[in-house]
Amino acid sequence: MTTTQILTPAQLQEHIDRLPRMDIAHLPTPFEEMPRLTERLGGPKIWIKREDMTGLAFGGNKARHYEFEMPHVQNEGYDVMINIMDYHSNNARMTAAAANKIGMRYILVLKNAANRNVQGNLLINKILGAELHLLDEYQSGDAGGYATRLKEELEAEGHKPYLIQDHLFPRIVGMVGFVQAGIEMREQIEDANLKNVHIIGVAGRSLCGLIIAAKVMGLDWKFTGVTVNYDVPLEEYVFDHNKDIQEILDLTVTFEKSDMRVLDQYIGEGYGVMTSEVAEAIHIAAQTDAIILDPNYTGTTMAALIDQVEQGGFDNDETVIFIHTGGLPAVFTFAEQLANFKQQS
Ligand SMILES: Cc1ncc(COP(=O)(O)O)c(C=O)c1O
Repeated sequence: MTTTQILTPAQLQEHIDRLPRMDIAHLPTPFEEMPRLTERLGGPKIWIKREDMTGLAFGGNKARHYEFEMPHVQNEGYDVMINIMDYHSNNARMTAAAANKIGMRYILVLKNAANRNVQGNLLINKILGAELHLLDEYQSGDAGGYATRLKEELEAEGHKPYLIQDHLFPRIVGMVGFVQAGIEMREQIEDANLKNVHIIGVAGRSLCGLIIAAKVMGLDWKFTGVTVNYDVPLEEYVFDHNKDIQEILDLTVTFEKSDMRVLDQYIGEGYGVMTSEVAEAIHIAAQTDAIILDPNYTGTTMAALIDQVEQGGFDNDETVIFIHTGGLPAVFTFAEQLANFKQQS
């Protein structure tokens, strides 16, 4: 039988501190109550962890990731980063911002981006000076091939390009950043004297990082992950990498599938298509506790939270903590739909 070695926050911090890191994110991020949403829904108390306030060109969970990612890329001698993302991607924008912080050239291959309004993340990418390749729908079918050709051309010119999608490291440090967030949250939760913690967030790397932190520190936090994208199977995206994170941090525990209740009934038509429930949830969060959510990730997660409270999916004596992972500029990409949305009440 393997015994789980429980670590103190300071001991867990030592494991994280073995990795090269730079100071990018504004930490700790705020941890606040959502009293008016709690009252409106009439269920458990709702709190929010403000990962939208990490800084780095409008904030979001990637600021924590890039604290580890950028020194790694730099130390390995790469001189240009290439990223393949959707036209409205937050990751695309935050990578552009992080690249600027270290003066790294950044090439962005954006799918389904031709002839789009220059708005939201796309606008910020331009302002940040990313070298943009705006693919049409047809080209987007082989965005990987397109990026690989760019990489080979750069290599032929004597560069050392880092095509993000070719590497495992970015995926793993996405979790490491949130092990750090877990240490931070433990203190905030203790200071606020909260019990029966149930964390809800996008089903992904950030949540897995928090799960690891909780398990390593012996905390009884529960987790609900909300799926936002049919095209990214969770198996491949996170669950197959539980051993990688254990290895990189040299820990005795990792996360398991059973550590997270996964809700996948809130995706609607798919990633990048906002449902009316999500539009409603965005308005509700804004009009109760003045929290602005995004149409793809956090809006979907809030729609799930609201529905779950209504359906009795949380116990009333739990403290539900919503992880706001950012995505603010995407609101402007969906400006027309949001502006024309008619609320039910
Ligand atoms: C706003 C937002 N939330 C959540 C996620 C999911 O990220 P992760 O899997 O790293 O937790 C993303 C990914 O780009 C995002 O942009």
